[in-house]
Amino acid sequence: LASIEVDVSALEPGMSLTVKWRGKPVFIRNRTDKEVEDAKAVPIAELKDPVARNANVDAAEQATDLARSAGEGKENWIVMIGSCTHLGCVPLGQAGEYNGWFCPCHGSVYDTAGRIRKGPAPENLHIPNFAFVSDTVIKIG
Ligand code: FES
Repeated sequence: LASIEVDVSALEPGMSLTVKWRGKPVFIRNRTDKEVEDAKAVPIAELKDPVARNANVDAAEQATDLARSAGEGKENWIVMIGSCTHLGCVPLGQAGEYNGWFCPCHGSVYDTAGRIRKGPAPENLHIPNFAFVSDTVIKIG
């Protein structure tokens, strides 16, 4: 399927789900306020990959928390391809030093905005084309 629609109405803050899209896992997370605040507090200059890697924004957009999220008013939502940008393992959620994602294969650590912070992965977790088609349904692709 080129695109899928996912009902996220059951996801309370702090809950995630993983769906499969084009053969890859896609992580959808309803982030807690603290997770958003932690990500917003990080200066862009500290990021290993300062680019948003978000197919929904300009390719040159900086990796601010807002540019990594579902956008204004929906900043708690994050949707990412669940494939480590090192060699493609599936990172674990709510894990690692930044309580974001942790890749067990070679130890890449991503923050709560899915941005690479430590380890061998070169890029932030990629964000696919997606949009909310209603308050509770996300279309991916
Ligand atoms: Fe994730 Fe190597 S594949 S750290």
